[in-house]
Amino acid sequence: MTTAAELRQLAGFTAQLYKAKVVLGYQGYARHDELALLMLHPGRDNPYPLYERLRARGPLVRSRVGPWVTTSHQVCNTVLRDRQFGVVLDGAEGPGAGGLSFLEMNPPDHTRLRRLAAPAFSPKKMAGYTTLIEKTVQRLLDELPASGRFDLVSAFAAPLPIAVISDLLGVPTAHADQFARWGATIGTALDGVKGVRHLAALMQANAGLERLFTGLFEQRRREPADDVVSAVVTAEGERITPAEMVPICVLLFIAGFETTVNLISNAVLALTAHPLQWVALHDDPSLAAGAVEEVLRFDPPVQRTGRVALADTELAGVAVKRGEYVVTLTAAANHDPAVFADPARLDITRSNADEHLAFSSGIHYCLGAPLARAEATIALGALAERLPRLRVAGQVVRRNASTIRGPLRLPVTA
Ligand code: HEM
Repeated sequence: MTTAAELRQLAGFTAQLYKAKVVLGYQGYARHDELALLMLHPGRDNPYPLYERLRARGPLVRSRVGPWVTTSHQVCNTVLRDRQFGVVLDGAEGPGAGGLSFLEMNPPDHTRLRRLAAPAFSPKKMAGYTTLIEKTVQRLLDELPASGRFDLVSAFAAPLPIAVISDLLGVPTAHADQFARWGATIGTALDGVKGVRHLAALMQANAGLERLFTGLFEQRRREPADDVVSAVVTAEGERITPAEMVPICVLLFIAGFETTVNLISNAVLALTAHPLQWVALHDDPSLAAGAVEEVLRFDPPVQRTGRVALADTELAGVAVKRGEYVVTLTAAANHDPAVFADPARLDITRSNADEHLAFSSGIHYCLGAPLARAEATIALGALAERLPRLRVAGQVVRRNASTIRGPLRLPVTA
């Protein structure tokens, strides 16, 4: 018998399959179309030259595979803020629909669910996470192998956000490893489903997370605690429907984990490739917050997002029809020379680095941005302080993804 949960999963994965079909449809255009090239060569290549090719064609161009594409900071910002655009067309399935809770909803549902999750990021909560982040960072650095050679992703960049997000959600540490494996699998869906085996793995991971959170809901109904799962069960029936409860937890988990691991790794990649800036950070750890902003601008973990036009409208002097999709290449916007002087240069003292769109803009602006900033700032400051000779020492293996950018393995020596 098909349960409601299975149907919900299927609905989510149908949307993912739709995305996969779009990806496969790109094959025929690949050599001539920048968007198709980005989709077909995920991770392996440097996307920034393609962004510049697109920029040379104007602020808003039509891809041969359908959507509009923009590299312009101003146009990206407009699309992300304008209420004539949404993440989904009147509840219809399509790019953007996929089951990641309010990230994939328009108001009023978006507003209702975002409000429910927001208290998890209050200043008081942030103070508690800061202590946890500091302790976890020092513990992970203490546990590094004496040889000084290690994989920065598995030894440091991944365990930190997992520890923090588990605490935020109230997932017992005993489940943390399994939790991380399921999360990593679901994270691969952000780029579309790559085949039947991938789909089966996704469904298995989703079922695992569903079991874990359903069990936690039961526990917290009996013994409420000061965590997101308790807030969700308290709101059940009034501000959240039973069907929305697992997806909101999965969203916080995936959003908080898949992105932060890449921010820390991308920061190490960028800064060790610019040794003078690494030394500057070692000499003055108070530069860490600025370094994080500059890395978010220079090589962001989320390279793009997109919106669908909810009505016929005009954008950058071009008529965009209701139902048409605009790909906002936020990573390209972060290199827009109209906003950032000498954009290809990494400069951890850049004064306007925080104008980047790495956390998006408008109503879907990253809810976890303060947490991501705190994790990366503390992590980077401690790395530069304790491992001043850190450098890449081996083959960097990148994720096979084009929306999320970052290494899967980053061998280093300290
Ligand atoms: C470096 C780390 C991070 C990056 C680069 C990042 C990036 C983003 C981006 C680009 C969006 C908006 C996507 C869109 O407009 O379509 C977003 C939304 C979101 N992020 Fe983050 N994120 C990060 C860390 C986190 C963390 C640590 C959490 C939570 C623990 C989190 C939770 C969320 C949530 C809940 C949303 C949905 C907001 C909404 O739809 O209203 N993120 N993030």
